[in-house]
Amino acid sequence: MNTYTASEQRHEATPCRRCGNSGLFLPLVSLGLWHNFGGGERYARFSEILFHAFDRGVTHLDLANNYGPPPGAAEENLRCVLRDGLERYRDELVISTKAGYPMWPGPHGSGGGRKHLLASIDQSLKRTGLEYFDIFYSHRPDPVTPLEETVGALADIVRRGKALHAGISNYEPGRAKQVIDMLRAEGVPCVVHQARYSMFERTPERGLLDTLAREGVGMVAFSPLAQGLLTDRYLDGIPEGSRASRPGGFLKPGQVTPGYLSRARRLNALAAARGQSLAGMALAWLLRNPVVTSVLTGASSTAQLDENLKATRHLDFTPAELAAIEEALDMP
Ligand SMILES: NC(=O)c1ccc[n+]([C@@H]2O[C@H](COP(=O)([O-])OP(=O)(O)OC[C@H]3O[C@@H](n4cnc5c(N)ncnc54)[C@H](OP(=O)(O)O)[C@@H]3O)[C@@H](O)[C@H]2O)c1
Repeated sequence: MNTYTASEQRHEATPCRRCGNSGLFLPLVSLGLWHNFGGGERYARFSEILFHAFDRGVTHLDLANNYGPPPGAAEENLRCVLRDGLERYRDELVISTKAGYPMWPGPHGSGGGRKHLLASIDQSLKRTGLEYFDIFYSHRPDPVTPLEETVGALADIVRRGKALHAGISNYEPGRAKQVIDMLRAEGVPCVVHQARYSMFERTPERGLLDTLAREGVGMVAFSPLAQGLLTDRYLDGIPEGSRASRPGGFLKPGQVTPGYLSRARRLNALAAARGQSLAGMALAWLLRNPVVTSVLTGASSTAQLDENLKATRHLDFTPAELAAIEEALDMP
């Protein structure tokens, strides 16, 4: 069943940004397959989101070996959508995957060792049916494996054509700088760092963003909506089917506290004054910094995706707006 034909306007719909000093371009809003694309999801639902995303110029799709559940299911599901029409556009797509979190039993089933990284990308290629990934990430720093081994494996993965670019995720600024230098010495530059960054998670402002700007490395900001907390999703309670309502989810109902609600309501009012939704303002706020190449969002519907894409229409903030946002974030 190969029935999908992409919209001819797809490349006008979402602007792209160059990833650091590289020749890789990412859409300002990318789509991650961590949630909503696993084994228990209906094909009709996730394929609709993926086709719609591509029609709207969301050319970057982000995976990891362990996305599911069960681990690997998101990569397998993407394979079905590629087969049903998306693979015709492979040269327009930027598809990333990662390895580092527990994936299979035994000492080589996780981490930053050579055996884990090389075996994992082969598994990911098989699950997706792809001939190569555009970006392969070391998903997290490994305190045991020497950095030289992780870097050597990343460089070999690129040299062998299994991925076009190397990236890192969740590395603190000092280690990130070491990897950037070591990869450069291997002749395989680190093009991107994927870090958790949102109005509610400001750690990258303590050194990481400056390091990446200095080194010409792009940043992809993951969980930019704090898993839905920086949207209107929870302003009137916890809806059924939402991430916070699902058992075993990474967002807990206990995070929807009265303090959170006052901050979110205040931010929502500030967004409305700018003519944006809270989600739109939260994404625009990140994208106002050119070091942030793309905001890597999740979506459980095409409507959410469309709402998030509206962020790109209004990225500038007045000093008064920025100050009001900081004040809202500081509320007890
Ligand atoms: N490198 C890493 O270690 C790492 C870690 C985590 C994530 N990631 C990557 O980052 C991607 C995004 O992470 P994330 O899913 O946490 O991102 P997010 O964009 O912060 O949260 C996505 C969730 O927010 C809700 N949402 C999104 N847009 C909305 C809207 N307009 N209105 C109302 N609710 C909205 C949806 O929740 P509902 O499901 O409730 O509708 C959606 O599933 C992942 O898929 C993955 O690719 C990487």
